[in-house]
Amino acid sequence: MTVRPEDFRAAGGRFASGVTVVTAAHAGKVYGITASAFSSVSLDPPQVLVCVARTSKLHEMVVEGKTFAVSILANDQRELSELFAKPDREPVESFVELDVPHVLHATGTPVLRGCVAFFDCTLARAYDGGDHSIFVGDVRAAGLGAERPPLLYFNRGYRGITDL
Ligand SMILES: Cc1cc2nc3c(=O)[nH]c(=O)nc-3n(C[C@H](O)[C@H](O)[C@H](O)COP(=O)(O)O)c2cc1C
Repeated sequence: MTVRPEDFRAAGGRFASGVTVVTAAHAGKVYGITASAFSSVSLDPPQVLVCVARTSKLHEMVVEGKTFAVSILANDQRELSELFAKPDREPVESFVELDVPHVLHATGTPVLRGCVAFFDCTLARAYDGGDHSIFVGDVRAAGLGAERPPLLYFNRGYRGITDL
């Protein structure tokens, strides 16, 4: 039995998620991608995971650099989500080149300013996840940022929170 890719995508699109930018730093370069495949994993030890496409430039940087950071975007950071989802980008020496305000914490991997929360990690394990890798990170620093609602993604579109 095979599942059609369009059915897989359509079903996955019905899962409402937050939006993160996952960043990496290696060999004097930094890079980031928009990612919704993020989850908290463990409290003791503190661990989170992200799923990153093997084809992504971020993949090699995390494997080589052994760190990553997760910035959970606020609802006014949609432009950043779009910027970090663009194909055919290259790693840069600093996000200053992209006009993206950021801050460095424990691992030196950039965390985006204005995000609602962040996790700064060293790579604990990389698991095979088909055409993605599942990167589990040991959280070296975590914190809160902007007191704003988060940006959400659902059914291939950006959304905001509405209280029921
Ligand atoms: C809302 C949203 C969520 C995404 N989630 C992921 C994800 O969890 N993992 C991933 O590898 N790519 C994800 N992407 C795609 C990457 O952002 C995109 O492929 C990447 O930035 C392109 O750069 P690259 O060619 O270096 O991979 C997502 C894109 C969007 C718009």
